[in-house]
Amino acid sequence: MFSEDRKLADIEEVPSDSTLLVTLRDGFDEHEALLIRLADGVACWKNACQHWTDVRLDKGSGARVADGEIWCQKHGATFGAVDGECTHGPCEGAYLEEIAVTVHEGAVYLTDDDYEFDHRGPSDDIDLSSRGRIDFSGT
Ligand code: FES
Repeated sequence: MFSEDRKLADIEEVPSDSTLLVTLRDGFDEHEALLIRLADGVACWKNACQHWTDVRLDKGSGARVADGEIWCQKHGATFGAVDGECTHGPCEGAYLEEIAVTVHEGAVYLTDDDYEFDHRGPSDDIDLSSRGRIDFSGT
């Protein structure tokens, strides 16, 4: 269960004021997920806003996080880092899709049987040219 090939990060590498992006695999499909440090562990969420699910919360350099909430920079939806619930914005009441991780001996392991760990950082499958819509950050 806690094999080296399912180790996502050391816990010290996971920020509480931003997110750490990882790429998971489900067969041939890649999926991005973001890790965020909580007071009592780490949460892992699919890197997709619940308003427009093709919009990434973490564009590769960490999502914006304030007051324990992850922000979507497209239309300003906020999601609780602990429970993934959208507390404000166009998808209020929706939940981010959770991916199971477990902290063990100072490291974060992928314990969701639906996925394999591929690599740290953005997915190679993301077509950045199709994500070029302007958002709050101008990126
Ligand atoms: S796409 Fe995230 S709030 Fe609209």
